[in-house]
Amino acid sequence: MALAAIILAAGMSHTAFAQGQSEQKPASLYDRLGGLAPISVVVDDFIDVLVPDPILNTNPAIDAARKRVPASYLKYHVTAMVCQATGGPCRYDGRGMKETHARLNITAQEWDRMVTLLKGVLDRHAVPAQEAGELLDIVDSTRADIVASSEM
Ligand code: HEM
Repeated sequence: MALAAIILAAGMSHTAFAQGQSEQKPASLYDRLGGLAPISVVVDDFIDVLVPDPILNTNPAIDAARKRVPASYLKYHVTAMVCQATGGPCRYDGRGMKETHARLNITAQEWDRMVTLLKGVLDRHAVPAQEAGELLDIVDSTRADIVASSEM
């Protein structure tokens, strides 16, 4: 009887808590990822894996751009972009994705390779499945602008 009362009381307070919460704005993906510090660490690792990748660099246009464009510059821009796209306070001021990747002839296979590398980095940083999925959806929304149209 006492146990039943405790369970009932716990259930009620949980409901009251849930109702109180539903009036607040849900936390942004930016906040759920932990803000700018963890986002910048994950982007830093991602670019460190992406830039020297031997599979992606068999594409001569990607390889040439890798040798020309500093990784730290990419880290800065991609961090700002992820921060903004997840609801954070940053403002991405780099070029558009279509213009940036237009001459790189990125294929569907190269896109898939990038996604595999990104998933590996998200896993290593123990990003929860829900947040990793939302981030991958944001990245996927840029695919049409980045993959060369003949490869879609
Ligand atoms: C297979 C996939 C990708 C490859 C091989 C790739 C490769 C590159 C390369 C080589 C550059 C330097 C281009 C240059 O300045 O000439 C670049 C720039 C950039 N990429 Fe990607 N990229 C890929 C996907 C993405 C994705 C998914 C995002 C973000 C959603 C992204 C964001 C950027 C940004 C922000 C820049 C810098 C833009 C600027 O210079 O203003 N890239 N990428």
